Amino acid sequence: MQLYIDTANLDEIKAAHDFGVLDGVTTNPTLIAKEKIDYSTRLAEICRVVSGPVSAEVIATDTKAMLAEGKRLASIAPNIVVKLPSTVDGLRACKAFSDQGIKTNMTLCFQSLQAWMVAKAGAFLVSPFIGRLDDIGEDGMNLIRDIRRVYDNYGYKTLVLAASVRHSNHLLQCALAGADVATCPFKVIQDCMKHPLTDQGIERFLADYKKAFG
Ligand code: G3P
Repeated sequence: MQLYIDTANLDEIKAAHDFGVLDGVTTNPTLIAKEKIDYSTRLAEICRVVSGPVSAEVIATDTKAMLAEGKRLASIAPNIVVKLPSTVDGLRACKAFSDQGIKTNMTLCFQSLQAWMVAKAGAFLVSPFIGRLDDIGEDGMNLIRDIRRVYDNYGYKTLVLAASVRHSNHLLQCALAGADVATCPFKVIQDCMKHPLTDQGIERFLADYKKAFG
């Protein structure tokens, strides 16, 4: 499973990149608003750090404006992926971009049929939001499993990018359910390599070694 970081914070992106296992970055309007910096400037900075796909989300809500905004975002760097909402307008823009060879990430996907439609339109990535489904009492992971099954049934090439990942168990369940990519906050990435028994084990090994050899 590929690992993306879900942030627009450059320090977090650099730190995660430094782990050596980061495959890409996702951003959204909420995340960029937290940074209080011009979106294009920050995207260019991110693309200088990470060579994998960097998702840049449009603010526009109608197809024509999405196409203009998406084209501008895609011109920032060759690894920009245009992020569009999973609406009818987004679907039209997705099809137009994929016909032009511009990669898209179809976001705010909450049901498998949205994922099916955007795959037909040639989306590069689809982003089902797990945490927000959990928030309303559903099991977000079922959406990942269902999309995986639909895509495998017909051989769709769109990558399933699990989004709205809130904790490390979400990440594990995504890997078990066959998500192609998971995007998550830096804290969740850090949590993947943490276990109290690992820390205790290191302490005990060092203490035993010191006792024997000084
Ligand atoms: O990638 C989408 C993600 O940023 C949404 O996460 O935690 O706001 O539901 P969350």
